[in-house]
Amino acid sequence: MAHLLHIDSSAAPAGSVSREVAATFRTAWEQEHESGTVTHLDLALNPVPHLTSAGIAARAKTSADRSTEESAAAALQDRLVAQLRAADAYLFGVPMYNWTVPSTFKAWLDQIVIAGRTTVFGDEPETVKGRPATVIVSAGGGYGPGTPREGWDFATPYLEKVLTEALGLDVHTIQIELTMAHHSPAMAALRDISDLNRTNAHADAEKLARVLAQEFKH
Ligand SMILES: Cc1cc2nc3c(=O)[nH]c(=O)nc-3n(C[C@H](O)[C@H](O)[C@H](O)COP(=O)(O)O)c2cc1C
Repeated sequence: MAHLLHIDSSAAPAGSVSREVAATFRTAWEQEHESGTVTHLDLALNPVPHLTSAGIAARAKTSADRSTEESAAAALQDRLVAQLRAADAYLFGVPMYNWTVPSTFKAWLDQIVIAGRTTVFGDEPETVKGRPATVIVSAGGGYGPGTPREGWDFATPYLEKVLTEALGLDVHTIQIELTMAHHSPAMAALRDISDLNRTNAHADAEKLARVLAQEFKH
């Protein structure tokens, strides 16, 4: 039975667009996999600690050679890598903060992207290569071609790069832009586009969940 790892990283407990669209994906996925498993991490409620010097040092040592601090850091990485590898598919809700990803999501990535172990640069032993990952990116502004801030979105390209090139995941991105249109008077003229964007994102999330779920039914 399929196992989905669902990670939310919006700091907003309510009214979060990335959480809402991820929830649409998850509901459709669960309908397709009634006896499947979902593991949910809420990085706003339960942030993963930042990678430390002990965590980096522990990667190059055997357990017998590690200090107490390095052993604790290694145990955290082992737990998070095991959680990553236990899943067949991934769902990531990631808001844009300061034109990139929230530090909570980056902290999680820094713990689980481990060169020589989970990466796909060579013959690493613990990769999740080829597994599907749906990435829901919500942004207050608009960054599409021809817009004044085209090229300012460092969240989506970064996520696609690290998840594809470092972890080897099969990435599907759903972007929801202009989420601030209803909150910012300066963006009032963009409210209809914002609403359409959000409606389309929910429809895309539901459709994608059902399509990806089929891959695990054979
Ligand atoms: C701390 C913070 C920084 C933000 N930085 C940006 C930004 O650089 N560009 C942008 O378009 N929107 C920015 N926003 C707006 C969010 O991207 C927008 O509200 C988005 O919907 C957040 O995702 P969520 O609805 O899932 O919480 C920021 C919001 C917060 C709280």
